[in-house]
Amino acid sequence: MKQIGYADIVLGLQFGDEGKARVVDNLASQYDIIARFNGGSNAGHIIVNKKGPVTIHQIPSGIFHPKTTLYIGSGCVVNIKKLAEEIKVVGDYGIGLEKRLKISSQASIVQPHHILLDDLLGKSIGTLKHGIGPAYADRAMRMYGDRLVNIRLADVIDNPTHMFSIIKTNLKIVQKQYKLPVSVEKEIEAVEKAFAQIRSYIEIDPLYMQRRVEKGSRVLFEGAQSVMLDVVKGSVPYVTASSTIAAAAYTGGDLSPKYHRKTIGVVKAIMSRVGYGPFPSEFGGKQSEDYCMETYNDETRHTKDVEATYKVDELISSPEHFYVGVGLRVLSEEYGATSAPRRIGRLDLVQLHYAAKLNGIDELIITKCDVLNAFSKIRHGGIPLVVGYKLDAKTIDYVPAASDAFYRVKPIISYEKPFIEDISHIRSFDKLPLALRKHIKLIEKASGCKVVGLGVGPKREQYISIP
Ligand code: IMP
Repeated sequence: MKQIGYADIVLGLQFGDEGKARVVDNLASQYDIIARFNGGSNAGHIIVNKKGPVTIHQIPSGIFHPKTTLYIGSGCVVNIKKLAEEIKVVGDYGIGLEKRLKISSQASIVQPHHILLDDLLGKSIGTLKHGIGPAYADRAMRMYGDRLVNIRLADVIDNPTHMFSIIKTNLKIVQKQYKLPVSVEKEIEAVEKAFAQIRSYIEIDPLYMQRRVEKGSRVLFEGAQSVMLDVVKGSVPYVTASSTIAAAAYTGGDLSPKYHRKTIGVVKAIMSRVGYGPFPSEFGGKQSEDYCMETYNDETRHTKDVEATYKVDELISSPEHFYVGVGLRVLSEEYGATSAPRRIGRLDLVQLHYAAKLNGIDELIITKCDVLNAFSKIRHGGIPLVVGYKLDAKTIDYVPAASDAFYRVKPIISYEKPFIEDISHIRSFDKLPLALRKHIKLIEKASGCKVVGLGVGPKREQYISIP
């Protein structure tokens, strides 16, 4: 009798950008299907390969493993134009996706008016302006009166002329309401053209994943955005619009939860955050949030280039936490698309404990451990860990749900013994400095999860498996 398959999940446990894509790339050869279950083109996954780095947004991160199927589930929202472009970029890289890429026909479309609305209305959250929030809002709204606002790929396959005319009406309404200089005809034409390019990848069988797993396929679900950006469980309202947690993998990834095997959490050794919102462990607190968001609001500021001229050692040994954060950002190259600086913070064990319990994490992988030796140079002379919170003078050990309270939280910081060695060439846990091994044990204790892997550099091989 043929063995029935199973599914595992890779999730980011912080605020995004933990290095999930490289973890998926490392694990992909053990699976038959790599599947996305949430989000859309707001995700930016960089995978470094022999041919150099490639950035993908909607296509799952298993592209370098030719035997894997790449599945975009119904929980995602699909930007048709960007997906067609992405397929081309991956194709130019020498990777054909015919018969490999499958997109659920139940996935909703990010329509042109969603992108306009996000650009106009998403500023106070610091959204990435990809139309994600408006697309999920329309998915929940279904119809405005008798006008269809949630359009799925299946609808367009079924009746393209009618659906494109509705997409056009939806765009015209927003264009008129906000008096936007948009050529509606051109926009719709471009979407129609892109749809023809992605049409053959759409999977019309809603039980596709089910059937594959029943025949023995092993699935790796790849989370986008991360736990603290979950629309309900994250730092609401400064979150994305989708469900990012483990339980969402099965609804958004189109598989029955009975096939679940394990959940792997990815954590970055020094945290980062993009966009506005509470981040108790941030170096430099509000000063850092404002500074990083200035670039977000003004893309002509070339903060990355300016910061590249700074002397990292001087910054890291500064008495001001804000400058320590700047130094760590330069050192670990924490810049997003359009070179916006990411906010930098200490590893927060209160937040990690919450994320690990909420998702039933079985195994942890910690990325960017090579950067931790920078803490041998800071004034406090130790690796900082947030071990508790103070909320209005009261000590707490949980993540407050109220946004204002989460913003008011002050971190309680403990400093662990540092190490100075460069560990980027090390490939075995036993060879790591004792201080780092102790640090890993503390993380295991706080999260209740076994650490099974460490990233010690950006390259594929700069990875330590812990048996
Ligand atoms: P949206 O997902 O574009 O609506 O943005 C909502 C919030 O999530 C903003 O703070 C974004 O910066 C953040 N966000 C969305 N996608 C990512 C990601 O892939 N990495 C990190 N932050 C993200």
